[in-house]
Amino acid sequence: MCGIVGYIGDKDATPIILEGLKKLEYRGYDSAGIAILDGKSIQVRRDSGKIAHLGELLSKDPIHGSPGIGHTRWATHGEPSERNAHPHIGFNGQVVLVHNGIVENYLDLKQELMAEGIQFNSETDTETIVHLIESYLTAGNSLQEAVQNTLARIRGAHGIVVISTREPEKIIAARIGNAGGVVIGLGKGENYIASDIPAILEHTNEMIFLESQQMAVITKDDIKLMTLNGTRINYKIEKIDWDPISAVKGNYRHFMQKEIHEQARALTDTLAGRIDFSNSNIQLNTLNIDKIDINKITGIKIIACGTAAHAGQVGKYLIESIARIPVEVDIASEFRYRDPLVDKSQIVIAISQSGETADTLAAMEEARQKGAHIWSIVNAIGSQAMRLAEGFISMQVGPEIGVASTKAFTAPLVDLYLLAVLLADKKDLLCDESKSKLISQISMVPDLVGTCLEREAEVIEVARKYKDIEHILYLGRGINMPIAYEGALKLKEISYIHAEAYPAGEMKHGPIALIDKQMPVLAIMPKDPWYEKMLSQVEQAKARGGKTIILATDGDKRAKELGDDMLWIPEAAWMINPILAVIPLQILAYHIAAMKGLDVDQPRNLAKSVTVE
Ligand code: F6R
Repeated sequence: MCGIVGYIGDKDATPIILEGLKKLEYRGYDSAGIAILDGKSIQVRRDSGKIAHLGELLSKDPIHGSPGIGHTRWATHGEPSERNAHPHIGFNGQVVLVHNGIVENYLDLKQELMAEGIQFNSETDTETIVHLIESYLTAGNSLQEAVQNTLARIRGAHGIVVISTREPEKIIAARIGNAGGVVIGLGKGENYIASDIPAILEHTNEMIFLESQQMAVITKDDIKLMTLNGTRINYKIEKIDWDPISAVKGNYRHFMQKEIHEQARALTDTLAGRIDFSNSNIQLNTLNIDKIDINKITGIKIIACGTAAHAGQVGKYLIESIARIPVEVDIASEFRYRDPLVDKSQIVIAISQSGETADTLAAMEEARQKGAHIWSIVNAIGSQAMRLAEGFISMQVGPEIGVASTKAFTAPLVDLYLLAVLLADKKDLLCDESKSKLISQISMVPDLVGTCLEREAEVIEVARKYKDIEHILYLGRGINMPIAYEGALKLKEISYIHAEAYPAGEMKHGPIALIDKQMPVLAIMPKDPWYEKMLSQVEQAKARGGKTIILATDGDKRAKELGDDMLWIPEAAWMINPILAVIPLQILAYHIAAMKGLDVDQPRNLAKSVTVE
């Protein structure tokens, strides 16, 4: 979950690493630190709290030099504190390391090292790695050998970056498994290392991605890529065409607000190059769909976590309605622990913004072992979920920094719609007329989303009225039922208000007992095949004294009569409605949290990439 940055070159590493860490703070923000090789010794500054705090510490007590490494942490072992913050230094003071992952056998290793008289200064599992490297160095190994010997002894998934006074002209980085990426940024007479692209994108857009079981020895002029036993590997340099500006907050108060407002443009990018209007064809080239005989596919499983799983639930309606293939949506963390029934007649689609979510990657691996075809819908370029899949669809929305996902929710909805049309086409289910109608509906999405965004002021008024509530119930049906879940998740994760979501038809089976004057109901009921049913369910809630916020299609008089407050979306085809309906819910959640003065971009206890189980 944590963020890592490293630099080697002639510049002072400290400001480069500090700025890089600020861009990665979304990955974890309970403590941070930097280590620099200052001539012959290692200088470390670290503290609990956010990067700004580390910045203050560095201005009072500066360190300068190169190479250097830095880390922003999301605690797994040991509370957030100065002593548990990374970088961690070896027992002889010759090695310093930052780490992302969990050492599964750290207790055994710690006992062994302590029996040799090595003293531990933190409660972290990471400290075992640095002491092991130091012991191998002390025993006469080179830094590379010491790292290799250490990696052979630790279990689990890891990304590590190491520097040493013994060999100050190099940085060693390694990746084992899926605990987060390691990317090397190429400069001239300098090189960069990071866990994620945004940290170093302002310096270079030429990157090398480490795969699992690979390590790199990096000097200012050279990069050697190798397996963990030292066999050299050729590397491929990838050019990242993200705009570094889109990773910066600009005039917005929070990244989340910026990312909500980016959606009209971002979804234009998602669609870009995917529709051939001349013959109404969908082109998802990176999916490699032609390698699969779609007519032989018996079912699709979508695996994802959190917001991405909600996108998958909308995808179920889209694929089943348009392509008539049965779809099951599985929460990735549940998938592999029940011996799931998947085989080569099925396609498993993983959805992930970060492409590094440990549960999703593990579920992909489980499905792969059982013979299923694996596709992914991913935002982070070069991420594991992109690489592990036989084919992928890139969300194409640029970096998402706010911890609460917004544009990386609407983008997969667009992708899943395109995929549904493509699958239907492969199955010969669509006549030209229906295909071009479906295509014209999806191409209107950026404009319609733009209209929803222009209505922010109306949503702010609703936010003002409801900002002090303690509980709220979100209701939806059919294709908008997942939108109720997503709206409730957005509100709870950033405002800490208890927001519960229910399929509206389930109300009468229990939850209706909750409704009273203190429990407002937010009903999502645009004009769609479930509209009439939603009307009667809202009537039932109203009859029990509940205050109602109704999300409805422009001009709907019946909805207006029922709503104490209204959120309006423009008229659209029912399969498009979810993409529009979620926008006012994102805006509502954002403004309630902002009005409460909460840390919208970095809500408590959360991190952007969940690279632990
Ligand atoms: C909520 C949110 C999370 C993520 C989930 C999966 O706003 O962002 O629920 O959707 O942690 O993350 P990815 O998509 O990176 O796999």
